[in-house]
Amino acid sequence: MVKIAFQSPFAHKDEPKKEAAEALVAEQDPEVATHSREGSSGRCLLTLLGLAFILAGVVVGGACIYKHFMPKNKMLRGQMCYVGEDSQNQAAEPYFLPIAEEADIRETDNIAIIDVPVPKFSDSDPAAIVHDFDRLLTAYLDLHLGNCYVIPLNTSIVMPPRNLIDFFAKLATGSYLPQTYLVREEMIVTEEIDNVSGLGIFIHQLCIGKKTFRLQRREKLIGLQKRSAEKCHIIRHFENVFIVETKFCQQ
Ligand SMILES: *[C@@H]1O[C@H](CO)[C@@H](O)[C@H](O)[C@H]1NC(C)=O
Ligand SMILES: *[C@@H]1O[C@H](CO)[C@@H](O)[C@H](O)[C@H]1NC(C)=O
Repeated sequence: MVKIAFQSPFAHKDEPKKEAAEALVAEQDPEVATHSREGSSGRCLLTLLGLAFILAGVVVGGACIYKHFMPKNKMLRGQMCYVGEDSQNQAAEPYFLPIAEEADIRETDNIAIIDVPVPKFSDSDPAAIVHDFDRLLTAYLDLHLGNCYVIPLNTSIVMPPRNLIDFFAKLATGSYLPQTYLVREEMIVTEEIDNVSGLGIFIHQLCIGKKTFRLQRREKLIGLQKRSAEKCHIIRHFENVFIVETKFCQQ
């Protein structure tokens, strides 16, 4: 059976060998006839094998699709508040402004993807932030401007993935007091990055098709301060027990 199956496509391809192959088939025909029972059980086995392959394909394919389209981890949600400043009225009671976040933190990939939705009571921009602990890079996608900003990951601000997961868990159970303080940082937009493929798969996914710029912390640029002409945007976010106000200024 198996021999015939191998040789018949061979015979179609190769004309001179066709006759020989046919002779071989003819020769083996009686054998096949006498072994027709074995043959049918063989076919049955092949069919089963085929079905098993198809089934395996469906299972593997399904798993791949699931892996691709379902979030690996459930989204973690957290909210913290900071004391707002009322410059007009010094005697006013302190009031708290909320910052909410949704985070997808994957320990296996060493990555934290944080969504900052449109803030309810503040002038900051909604954003998507990727902290890549393998590449040691942070990327901010300002969803208001549609621009991406990349800077080395500041490990003294951003908790590592395991600690971030624990922190969000504490926020969810309310065992952490969500009233905190604000840390300000100021960034200068420097050069544009033309090709984001060298920045790791996650930042690539975030920034592909967006105008992407490198950032530099303000304190490193003393002497280059022409603040009046600058356009600045802010994103308020947290990846530690305090809120960070990141200000991006275009020179
Ligand atoms: C990290 O952030 C802290 C607090 O804003 C700042 O003092 C420090 O200079 C930053 N480190 C780097 C390497 O940018
Ligand atoms: C971007 O860079 C990668 C390698 O880092 C390269 O393979 C790719 O062709 C580049 N794409 C463009 C559009 O230059």
